[in-house]
Amino acid sequence: MASEQPKALSGIPAVDLYLAEGYRAVPGMSSQFAAAITCGLMRIQTSLGITGHAAEIGTFQGRFFIALAHALAPGERALGIDRFDWPDANVLDRFEENCRNHGISPEQRITWKADSSEISAEELLHRLGGPVRLFHIDGEHTRAALSQDLELATATLAEGGLIVLDDMLHPGYPTLILAVHEYLQKHPEMAVLCVIDRETLTAASKFVLCQQAWFKRYESVLLEEYQEHIWPMGAQFEPHWCLVFSLDTSLPALE
Ligand SMILES: C[S@@+](CC[C@H](N)C(=O)[O-])C[C@H]1O[C@@H](n2cnc3c(N)ncnc32)[C@H](O)[C@@H]1O
Repeated sequence: MASEQPKALSGIPAVDLYLAEGYRAVPGMSSQFAAAITCGLMRIQTSLGITGHAAEIGTFQGRFFIALAHALAPGERALGIDRFDWPDANVLDRFEENCRNHGISPEQRITWKADSSEISAEELLHRLGGPVRLFHIDGEHTRAALSQDLELATATLAEGGLIVLDDMLHPGYPTLILAVHEYLQKHPEMAVLCVIDRETLTAASKFVLCQQAWFKRYESVLLEEYQEHIWPMGAQFEPHWCLVFSLDTSLPALE
């Protein structure tokens, strides 16, 4: 496999090896940069004593899922939810094969072929055996589906858990942001912890949400550890600001 040094690191050796040698070999849409920052956040969770499982809606062939699974602590498991019917019925086999080839054993993961709109929080918690510390939402890209997936993620989230939203501010999905703002109004206990800027149009931006009570703890570690990727202007979420991670942290010249 061709090796390509990632532009950011998670700090977890198994994740960083996968990002360098496996990530781009697994077909998918999520950005390598976002995977590094997200798994870096999972490392920070472990250091803060936060435990739980990982879950993803929209697993496709496993590109992002495998990175999340490598970032888990012993005994924690990754749950991959997808209808597994697009672009063809063999996508489920390709997902299983990718997990095998990239070091995620059957004991570390659960595959759930389902439409996320038909999944209840109780069933999800039962399958995993406990709450979720990292929930990646990358399923149906409509306002209604994102609202529903956000409620599912919130109802299954561990104390200190994070919800990562894919394809934010993507030109092809302009209504998703409406679901996010509606959700934030309905859930004042939640906040956007950071924005992870896009790599390309398809490897688009992600928002990371956390419980308000954990915002400062996460932010102070991120400021210490990921300074070189922080865009100085930040994101204005009115009334609060949050960090923006980008591969381009430059500011326009004023003269
Ligand atoms: C953009 S792809 C996900 C890419 C993937 N996360 C990666 O790392 O490359 C979106 C996936 O969401 C799945 N999906 C769409 N609507 C869904 C739904 N209602 N429930 C479950 N999965 C869904 C699709 O089958 C597709 O595999």
